Amino acid sequence: MYFNKYPHRSNFSFVETFDPETGVVTAGVRVFATEVDSHEGDIYHVRVSNPDVWPETCGLSELDVPAPCARQRLKANDDFQLSLLGRDAKPLITGEFGVSGDASMFVFELGGDARFYGMGEKYFGKMELSGYRTKFWNTDVWGDFHFAQWGEHPSDPPYFSLPYLVAKIGDEYVGFLLHNSHPTFIETPGSDESRVFVEWQRTSERLILGSEGGEPNLWVIYGPSLAEVTRKLQKLIGTTPVPPAWSLGYHQSRWGYGGHADLMRLDEGFAKHKIPCDGLWLDLDYMDGFRIFQTNEANFPDGVSTTAETLAKHDRHIVPIIDPGVKKESGYRVYDDGHAQRVFCQNAEGGEYVGLVWPGETVFPDFTLPRVSDWWAGYIQEFAESGFGACWIDMNDPSTGPVDPNGMRFADGKLPHEAHHNDYSLGMQRATFDGFRRARPHERPFILSRSGFIGSSRYAAIWTGDNLANRFYLKSSIPTSVNLSISGQPFNGADLGGFGGDVTDELMLDWTKAHFLFPFLRNHANRGTRDKEPFAFPEPVMAVIRRYIRLRYKLFPYLYNLFVQQEEQGDPILRPLFYEFDGVGLDKIDDQFMVGPSILQAPFVEEGVKKRTVTLPGLEPWYDAANGDWIEPGERTAKAGRESTPLYLRAGAIVPMQPGTPVDNTKELRDVNLHLFMPPAWSGESELEYVADDGISYAYTSGARSRLKVRVVSVDGNLAIATDQTQDGFGLIAPTFVIHGDPKSVRLNGSEVVLEKNKVTLAGKPLAVVVVRA
Ligand code: GLC
Repeated sequence: MYFNKYPHRSNFSFVETFDPETGVVTAGVRVFATEVDSHEGDIYHVRVSNPDVWPETCGLSELDVPAPCARQRLKANDDFQLSLLGRDAKPLITGEFGVSGDASMFVFELGGDARFYGMGEKYFGKMELSGYRTKFWNTDVWGDFHFAQWGEHPSDPPYFSLPYLVAKIGDEYVGFLLHNSHPTFIETPGSDESRVFVEWQRTSERLILGSEGGEPNLWVIYGPSLAEVTRKLQKLIGTTPVPPAWSLGYHQSRWGYGGHADLMRLDEGFAKHKIPCDGLWLDLDYMDGFRIFQTNEANFPDGVSTTAETLAKHDRHIVPIIDPGVKKESGYRVYDDGHAQRVFCQNAEGGEYVGLVWPGETVFPDFTLPRVSDWWAGYIQEFAESGFGACWIDMNDPSTGPVDPNGMRFADGKLPHEAHHNDYSLGMQRATFDGFRRARPHERPFILSRSGFIGSSRYAAIWTGDNLANRFYLKSSIPTSVNLSISGQPFNGADLGGFGGDVTDELMLDWTKAHFLFPFLRNHANRGTRDKEPFAFPEPVMAVIRRYIRLRYKLFPYLYNLFVQQEEQGDPILRPLFYEFDGVGLDKIDDQFMVGPSILQAPFVEEGVKKRTVTLPGLEPWYDAANGDWIEPGERTAKAGRESTPLYLRAGAIVPMQPGTPVDNTKELRDVNLHLFMPPAWSGESELEYVADDGISYAYTSGARSRLKVRVVSVDGNLAIATDQTQDGFGLIAPTFVIHGDPKSVRLNGSEVVLEKNKVTLAGKPLAVVVVRA
């Protein structure tokens, strides 16, 4: 696999004849069948097939395809030119289709000054993605690239392939999804002269979406807004089921934590310093000689279940690593059994394909075969029953060390490697999920995965792989995670503080303040690097880290509800500013983002700077969480402060939070404070639908959930709050309203109420608030 060489359109034959009656096209000397199908929601599928060229269809990811529909915004005209009509019924895009051997491409002409976003996991450091050529091929970045290529630079492609692009054409958004497990590529028009050293580095003037093999299946999703296009994509590929509440807490990990003693030390540390922490992670060292599903018993003198029970007293969960690679060693139960059952991927000679990973010679379960997924799920079930309640699946790119992965074949040796390289991890996620469901049918599984593909959102959170403790990775983590979030993988995060290298105190502070509301928050470290637990830092640094971890827990009801919304509507947790606001130039801002609809963050990511420019979008003022000031929208300056971070709340926002300052893992959803951010003499209205459930089981799917509708209306600072509990399957939600503002009067469900004064600390100094109890 060449990471940086692409099929060129001059080597392709484009469609020459098209019979609209039968859908048959000719391109070069070959004949293909085509279908252009319309589905509800302005979602279109263009399929080109020829079983002699592409015997397999799309791979392991399944789409939830909406019902067919008569509407035809996307059409193929008489010579199979594809055109998508915009709002004004004029073509927004027009395109053609070509083939070269088993490679294929769609080439689109886009009207106007198109802008591009998405592309899944990319480390480009930019939100807007004009002028890129990129491949989708899961890599093990540290294994597949030289250090100089990833130390302080974007290496591409990284671990996770999500071949999806959003184009903004005028003010309409269109999504393109290449549903094909073979290697795919995208080339966007537009040029960034800083990246052009030789003329051929300039990308095509047209948009190219192509595959190096595999049946071409292009999905075109019309917005028109970014929010609509993202929701439709997410529903098509699968929303993320609301995860267990504890998975949204803070997690502590290190390559080096190996068993009971380390876990107890961590447990005590977090308890002593009153820092909430839900997940304690075990890397390879807990295993017996890198043998998966075989725990080193010496590391757990009283058994894993006893350790798990002790940690459960402080609501902590153990999350062990599991790699797909099975040590090739006769006498090792998992290998012997897998070998006997022929579960491992084959090589070209019909033997087991062997890679070189942690245990040395390693073989790989073939997740393309249902019987193998079933076999794997059985081991996961047993593992879960031994006391492990969750897991972290790694090296599923799949990483084969220095051995060429192309020798690994799938489906009993029938399919070449490239047919399932990109969705290997998806198969592993699905089988792992299934194993946990078998062990604990009523509990929501929590799985973290390094690699992934279209549809991983259904099974796993992902982290963006091995990063380094440097400013490049901190800065690029924002556009990486935000673009990934609008590409259909909303539950994501990066290793906090950087995996490799020694983080400095200043970098750790900036990183914590930038990421403390990322959907997934795990502090992880490479072996041999500086201790990175919050209490390993000097007291004043620890105090600030603790403050932001606590603030995450305070905001837990908000985060949890964003995940509920994700499952129900498909909205991501992290959003670019232009998801929520219109405005010129918002997509040039790479160091600001929204957490849900209400919170805007503009963290300090550059070293040693004292101030930065913050763009506050929209027409209404923003509440500065550091000092309680209301700031007019536009370009403003924020000053750096050790205790504070630029964090702003939208005018009229209703943000659910836990009461008080969380010092442990308590996650209360019913006794909730609803913080209303109300500008002076505000006239306006806003709404919130707030949800509470048990945070762990599937009971919510059969009604064990409560739902409270809140509506606030203010006229010149005279506030009326109305609440209506529309669902009560999880009991009464008892909100207290905390008003950041100075209402002249407040009525709650029609009655005048007594106002109490209090103080609340968010991202800076204590702030005066008005409290209204029901
Ligand atoms: C890989 C993972 C990293 C893990 C290490 C050892 O590099 O990405 O998170 O700590 O393997 O298991």
